[in-house]
Order: sequence, then C-alpha cells, then structure tokens
Amino acid sequence: MANIVVLTTLYSKNDTIFLEKNSHGSIIMGAKLSGAKIRLFEENDTNNLEKLIKNDKSKNKLIVTCGVFSMSGKITNLPDIVKLAKRYNCMTMLDDAHAFGVIGENGLGTVEYHNLKSSDIDIHVGTLSKSLSGSGGYICAKKEIIKYLRITSLPYILSASISPVIIAGVTKSLEIIKQNGQKLSNSLIEKQRFFKKELLKNNIQAIGDSAIVVIPIGDTEKTLKISKFLHQNRIYANGIIPPGVRRGQERIRFNITLTHSFDNLKYTIDIIKKGFKL
Ligand SMILES: Cc1ncc(COP(=O)(O)O)c(C=O)c1O
Repeated sequence: MANIVVLTTLYSKNDTIFLEKNSHGSIIMGAKLSGAKIRLFEENDTNNLEKLIKNDKSKNKLIVTCGVFSMSGKITNLPDIVKLAKRYNCMTMLDDAHAFGVIGENGLGTVEYHNLKSSDIDIHVGTLSKSLSGSGGYICAKKEIIKYLRITSLPYILSASISPVIIAGVTKSLEIIKQNGQKLSNSLIEKQRFFKKELLKNNIQAIGDSAIVVIPIGDTEKTLKISKFLHQNRIYANGIIPPGVRRGQERIRFNITLTHSFDNLKYTIDIIKKGFKL
C-alpha cells in the first residue's frame, strides 16, 4: 500500500518510472496504476538504466529500487543509482523491505550499508512486517511530500490507520534495533553466510547477500515437488513459480531469522539434499 500511495499520488501519464524487472509486485502495480510510462531494467544493470534515462524525454523521472531484491536476496547498487539520479535530475525511491533491520553496520538498511546519507534518496518506503514484526508500512520523505500524500492520496485516506497494538510492537522492535542493531544484524548475517556456504559445499547453487537465500530451480514442477517435501519435513520455505517470477526463473526462497539455530540450518540442508534426490 505504501508503494501504491507514493506511485499513484506523485506520478501520472506524462512521467516516467524506471523499475527493475524483478521489482516487488506492489511496486509494479503502483507504477501501472499511476499511468506513468514504465521503463524496465535488469537488477543492478545501471548501464542499461542510464541508456533508458538518456533516451527519455519526460520532465518528471523516478528511479525505484529495492534495497534487497526479494527474489534474489542481492543488494542494490544504490551508489550508482544515486549518481545517475543526480546526473539526470531524477527522483529516487528506495523500498527497504528486506534491508531494514538486516544489512548495514547497525542494521539500518541499504543507505547505511553503502555509507550514503538518507537525504541522497528522495522517498524511503518499507514494511513493518519483516524485521519489525508487525504489519503495515512506512513512507519517509521531505515534509512537503509527506504532507501532500496525507492530504491527497486516496489509498491512504480511505484506509484505517494501523492499530495501536501493532504500533506498540513496532516501537519496541525499533528500540531493540536501535540498542542492539549491530549485534543482531551481525549474528543474522553470520547465520545466513553459514547456510549459504554449506549449500554451496554440497553443490547446491545458492544466491543472496542478506537474510534471503535463494536456490534457483528453473522448473515449476520440480520447485513444487521440492517445496512440498520441505513443508512435509517442517521447513517453511517459499517455492516461487510464475507469476511470482518469469518462467525458467523458478526458485525456492529461504528467509533466515535470528531464532534459527545452527542445528536448524544443518537440519534444513539435510532435507534440501534429500529433496534434490526425489
Ligand atoms: C520489496 C517489498 N516491498 C514490499 C513488500 C510488502 O510487504 P508487506 O505486504 O509484508 O508489508 C514486500 C513483501 O515481501 C517486498 O518484498
């Protein structure tokens, strides 16, 4: 909803929105609903992005990126995006759903990870449903932008506010991240690295540089078969098939959390190995 609010309220048919091809569905839906021209580029392909921007004649241009790509677990090349935005006078929007509370020295997300300043990005969007353990989302930007969204955005005006129970939980989570972010994100990344390394050691392809680890499968039937086997063995990993990804890009996605023990991860790897032999 946060993505839809920003994109449909600030952009319309004479504008251009530049998006990565594997952007989260809520970004794609917001861009489509805005009526703006959509230009797609591959994850982190900033050379292609630059060509697209150069050839675009719209006055208002927006580059949207995810801090951590939800379908690959890779981290965006934000410094290059910021440079391009400055060079070609584009606005920038960062969806830090999978990055906030996970990457960066203190777990503060992609801007911290890349040693940038918050003000290098025009609009910060994120969810309260991942590292913050609640539900709902947030938008951070200059006061004038936020004021404009509050007054004019129908998806925002027509939805009930987040309940106090959720706010209390999220406030507590923020407090914990503020106090212990560095320790928590280091220990999460340590677990992620262990999991990925063990998979690779067992000749199972694995990608991802954040809490997300993805095993590419490339076939719908095989993805469903392995993910069903994982579920039967008490491992809740998402089998991702079209339309979640393009055909041939099917994959299984694991989200490592702080509550997973190293034994949990070893057990999971054993089950994955068995799943691949089915
Ligand atoms: C990049 C990105 N943005 C937004 C969302 C939406 O999150 P939620 O609906 O949990 O608030 C997700 C969910 O996975 C996501 O990956």
